[in-house]
Order: sequence, then structure tokens, then C-alpha cells
Amino acid sequence: MKQLLKTLTETFGPSGYEDAVRKVILKEIKPFADEVRVDALGSLIARKKPSKGGKDVKKIMLAAHMDEIGVIASHIDKNGFVRFTNVGGTFGRYTLGARVRFMNGTPGVVGYDRLEQMDSMPPLSKMYIDVGATSKADSPVKVGDVAAFERPFVEMGDRLVAKSMDDRTGVVVLIETLRAITLRQAQGGSTPHDLYFVFTTQEEVGTRGAGTAAFGIDPDIGIAVDVTPTGDTPASLKMTMELGKGPCVKFRDAGMLSDPRIIDWMIQTAEKAKIPHQREVLLLGSTDAKEMQITRAGVMAGALSIPVRYVHSSSEMVDINDLKNSVKLLTAMLSKPVSM
Ligand code: CO
Ligand code: ZN
Repeated sequence: MKQLLKTLTETFGPSGYEDAVRKVILKEIKPFADEVRVDALGSLIARKKPSKGGKDVKKIMLAAHMDEIGVIASHIDKNGFVRFTNVGGTFGRYTLGARVRFMNGTPGVVGYDRLEQMDSMPPLSKMYIDVGATSKADSPVKVGDVAAFERPFVEMGDRLVAKSMDDRTGVVVLIETLRAITLRQAQGGSTPHDLYFVFTTQEEVGTRGAGTAAFGIDPDIGIAVDVTPTGDTPASLKMTMELGKGPCVKFRDAGMLSDPRIIDWMIQTAEKAKIPHQREVLLLGSTDAKEMQITRAGVMAGALSIPVRYVHSSSEMVDINDLKNSVKLLTAMLSKPVSM
């Protein structure tokens, strides 16, 4: 799981440019899925059919987004400095001094016009990317080129740090859940649901891929697997989520209220299987679940969240045990019929 997470987090994939990430996922899931397709917006949809038919079969869509935040070049000046804007929630405080890499392989460092107050929060509009060029003519970057943070994956015991843990951790959890369900099936276990494992695009720019994928699939139930910021660092927001205390059952974020039936299903399954879990009320942000919930005539939706520190920085931190417990909880939920 760690190796796959390392590969995925070190892969380039800002919103709209998820191709390299999709390629890695496709290789992993192909042996386990009954059907695989890619929709018009690039979301990768892997289906696991139910063992038996019947009216109790629920169509369940699980979503984790492939894309990450990034930047896009908006202007190159005569000295070759690249001005840029955000792709998704790229914040000034995390961007200054960062290293980025463009899709064509060009590395760059982010500089700032002039630091007057060392502790002020600089806006992206006063930053530029230095790609080592000396003029506009020799710049390897053109207006419209996108870049992502570049940072190697590091291990600190059970704590893992990388860029794009949001949401490659969710991607890994879905891949491992699909693998676990296939294994159970091979050992004689049944699959009561019609499962759609969806690796969505463009979440960071407004949950766009999840919307079109959910419309196409028309599920009965939608569950997003994404990260959630924690309240366990000095002077953080007053929130209960902590690293290493298990997956978080989402009650609320800024974009949605989870369906109480999904919340009960998650909590009861976790308690029965003795899987550590936490209750999540997130004061900001949202996930693909908000998009699934209001698609077509409406979908019963909820989210399972992986706690993460320093979200949307190039050093997002997670605890490996939270990923393992997320796989356990999802596998337990999806292995039994549900009546809702
Ligand atoms: Co995000
Ligand atoms: Zn996310």
C-alpha cells in the first residue's frame, strides 16, 4: 500500500490533466474489475457486478478524485519569469518557495516580487515561477501550461508525507477495497451490490467529474472517499478529527449534510467490526459526495474521510493506519446487503 501511495503521490495530475494518474490506477484495477470505462470528462469507472441479481441489489458509487491542486501559467515576461494563477485551492502561504513541475517536465521555483513584511501572507498574483529562463524566447513554458507541486514522498514511521495525499490516499483506499472484495469473492464470499469504483476528475475546481460520472451511473447510494483536515495541531480550528484515530464518518462539511442513513450504516458497521473511527463535522471544504447527492433526482450520499494535516500544501501528512482502517470499514460495509 505504501509503495502504491508513493507512486501515486509522485505522479503528476492537476485538475483536467489526470491522464498519468489514471494510467497508474488502470494497471492496478484491471485484474479485479468486471468492466472498465473512461467517461467524457476522464473519470475512470470500474464496475464490480453483484454475485446474484434481484431487487435487493443496490447500485453503489464510490468516488475518489484523481486530480490535485496546481497552477497555470498566465503570462511570461521579457525576462522569462512566469506569472500564474491557481488551479483549485492553491494558497499563497504554501506556494512561496515551493518547487513545481510543468507537464512538459520543466521544473520551476516560486519567487515573490518583494517581501516587505516577512510574516504577511503573499497573494499568488505577486508571485512568479522562475524556470531558469533568461528571456521570453528561451522560456520552456507557454501561457496555459499547468504545473503541480513537486516533493518526494517521505516516511516518518506510520506518518507519511507527500504532495497530493488529497486525494491519492482516497484512490489507494478504493483500489485496495476493490482488491479485498475480489479476494473475498475468490474465497467464496458473495458481492451483494452492484459496485462502481469511480476515480473522478476535476474535484479541486468544483467536483465536476463526480457530477457527470454520477449522472451516467445513476446510483442508489454515493460515497466519497476523500481527506479531511484535522483539529490536532497547535492552535488549529476546534474540530475533533485527529491523525491515527481511524477513518472519519462525515456528518457535515461546507457543501453537504450526509444522509443520516449512510452515517448509521458506517458507524454500525465500524462498531460491529471493532474498527476505530471518528465523527466528522468539517468547518470548511467539501467532496465529491456533495455532487453525487444532488445529481438527477437526488442520491443518498455520505463520505468516509481520511484525516490529513497541512491540506493543500506540498507536504500533506497522513497516518497509514487510517488508510488500512478505511479499507477494512469499506470492505465490511460493501460485503453485506443493506436495507435502506
Ligand atoms: Co482538496
Ligand atoms: Zn480532496
